[in-house]
Amino acid sequence: MLKRIEIPGATLSVNDVGQGSPILFVHGFPLDHTMWREQVADLSRDHRCIAPDLRGFGQSTVTEGKVSMEQFADDLVALLDGLAITEPIVLCGLSMGGYIAWQFVRRHAPRLKAIILCDTRAVPDSAEAAANRLKLADDIVRSGPELVANAMLPKFFSERESNRRSILKEELRRVILATDPRGIAAASRGMAERADARPWLATIDCPALVLVGEQDIISPPAEMSEIAAALPHAAFRGIPDSGHLAPLENPPSVNEAIRSFLTTT
Ligand code: MLT
Repeated sequence: MLKRIEIPGATLSVNDVGQGSPILFVHGFPLDHTMWREQVADLSRDHRCIAPDLRGFGQSTVTEGKVSMEQFADDLVALLDGLAITEPIVLCGLSMGGYIAWQFVRRHAPRLKAIILCDTRAVPDSAEAAANRLKLADDIVRSGPELVANAMLPKFFSERESNRRSILKEELRRVILATDPRGIAAASRGMAERADARPWLATIDCPALVLVGEQDIISPPAEMSEIAAALPHAAFRGIPDSGHLAPLENPPSVNEAIRSFLTTT
């Protein structure tokens, strides 16, 4: 049963299960909290797992126009306040969740115990990529989320065909098609103008785990290993048999990597 938490300007839906030190799971674009279900099922045995739907996604309320990565990060802090969580958390973000993590580190570092960066990037969009995102945002509002489902689904998993991957793709298509186009558009516009996080990496002094699917074509392993090398206290793990959505594609490996990182933090 999801909780509903009021934050300034929105109501967030959140899966909050388990007891112990808190892990905040931040989903990628254009998905919802369910992408973390395999991690929540395992880690909630001995941690408090908090997996929200970000503003504009899942069952959370929608803000039209643009939602910046800064706003999403502030929303997460308001959510923690709403849940009366004051102790420092482990933040685990995938892709857009990682873009949000950079802002969380910059703006709310005292709330962080450690970060886990999954399949994400520190570089901003090129001018061309940003222009494409803005166009896509307008197109989605006009004609619905199918456009973005068709664009993203082929890039989410490794190329290996399997029944399980087909089922996951169908499931994610349903999640995307059920998402309010205005929420998807607002996050697209926010991502288009996100800052370059590379200059900050050397200043992030909490423990970090950098995880990447070995076949990720959106945030490739070579780029993620550069992020790990630039962070002062990072471990790097490649996840075999996985593309961009490694937590869904190879949960045993991702869960094991997270568990072994947590024992060192
Ligand atoms: C995501 O998975 O969140 C997206 O790939 C992020 C992006 O489009 O840059």
